[in-house]
Amino acid sequence: MKVLLFGASGLLGSTLHKLLQEKGITVLAPSRDNVDLRNPEHLIEYLKQLNFDVLINAAACSNTDWCEDNKEECFKVNWIAPSIMARCSREKEAIFLHFSTDYVFDGRREEYFEEDIPRPLSVYGASKLYGEQEIIKAGGHYYIVRTSLLYKENGKNFLSRVPEYIIKEEEIVCTKDLVSAPTYVPYLAEASLKLIEKNPPYGIYHISGGYPMSACEFVSMFSSIIGKSANIKAVSSKDMKRRAIRPANSFLNIYKYKTLIGFVPERPEVYMRRMYERVYKRQA
Ligand SMILES: NC(=O)c1ccc[n+]([C@@H]2O[C@H](COP(=O)([O-])OP(=O)(O)OC[C@H]3O[C@@H](n4cnc5c(N)ncnc54)[C@H](OP(=O)(O)O)[C@@H]3O)[C@@H](O)[C@H]2O)c1
Repeated sequence: MKVLLFGASGLLGSTLHKLLQEKGITVLAPSRDNVDLRNPEHLIEYLKQLNFDVLINAAACSNTDWCEDNKEECFKVNWIAPSIMARCSREKEAIFLHFSTDYVFDGRREEYFEEDIPRPLSVYGASKLYGEQEIIKAGGHYYIVRTSLLYKENGKNFLSRVPEYIIKEEEIVCTKDLVSAPTYVPYLAEASLKLIEKNPPYGIYHISGGYPMSACEFVSMFSSIIGKSANIKAVSSKDMKRRAIRPANSFLNIYKYKTLIGFVPERPEVYMRRMYERVYKRQA
């Protein structure tokens, strides 16, 4: 099996890349220097000359606030590029695995299923939704995986750095009123590849951590795992004064994936303990 992977330098893409290599799968992972996804003509030409069985798109403009001010670039990468990838995958009869977000929803419900109607509140959310719609329109062999708030060992984003902040006794400013399902990246990577291995019906799948919580609850839970109190400053999302509006509750229900694939996530405490023991325990 030959896999073409976009976004291999990212939070999710780097884990996917490693996992594919560990599985002995041939992976071609072009960087931004090889193909800039803001350039549709170049992307089309690049894809035309390649043969692959699976195309994985872990590339995105993923900074929600940045997207508010950089709509054009965000739309090119999150909307136009996946649309080209989907059409090209269909022509080559390849499987297209693409990642989307809980931010396609407006956050007014208690939980979201795959068939719920999206209503994004931000440019980022809209761009990801338009990307999804183009993939569905292309109609090939696609899996769209919606996921939420990622974290992993040595990640550079907020949730990934929580243990470091706790150990260094830094003040942790976190939101108390936005609920989602923080998702451990190694689980997400493994769970997503199972779609390709097991080949359930094509379509949208929610794959998330499976346990609803706010960022502040995530910090408190991590602090119990480490056994050290956290210097938490709990704020409301309004007080954060961020550029983009986030959904209040974007919990992704994972019933469909669980039923068809059966690979369920561990409780978040298990992943937090794993992260702490692998990276931080010796430094504490
Ligand atoms: N992070 C989250 O909490 C979260 C939550 C829900 C859903 N998601 C979704 O999960 C997927 C993976 O997100 P992530 O957090 O792993 O993203 P990330 O860490 O920001 O990585 C994004 C990747 O896309 C590449 N990229 C961006 N613009 C590009 C361009 N113009 N040309 C070529 N490559 C480009 C980046 O390359 P460079 O290194 O060159 O910039 C990087 O490899 C995305 O679809 C995202 O929407 C993420």
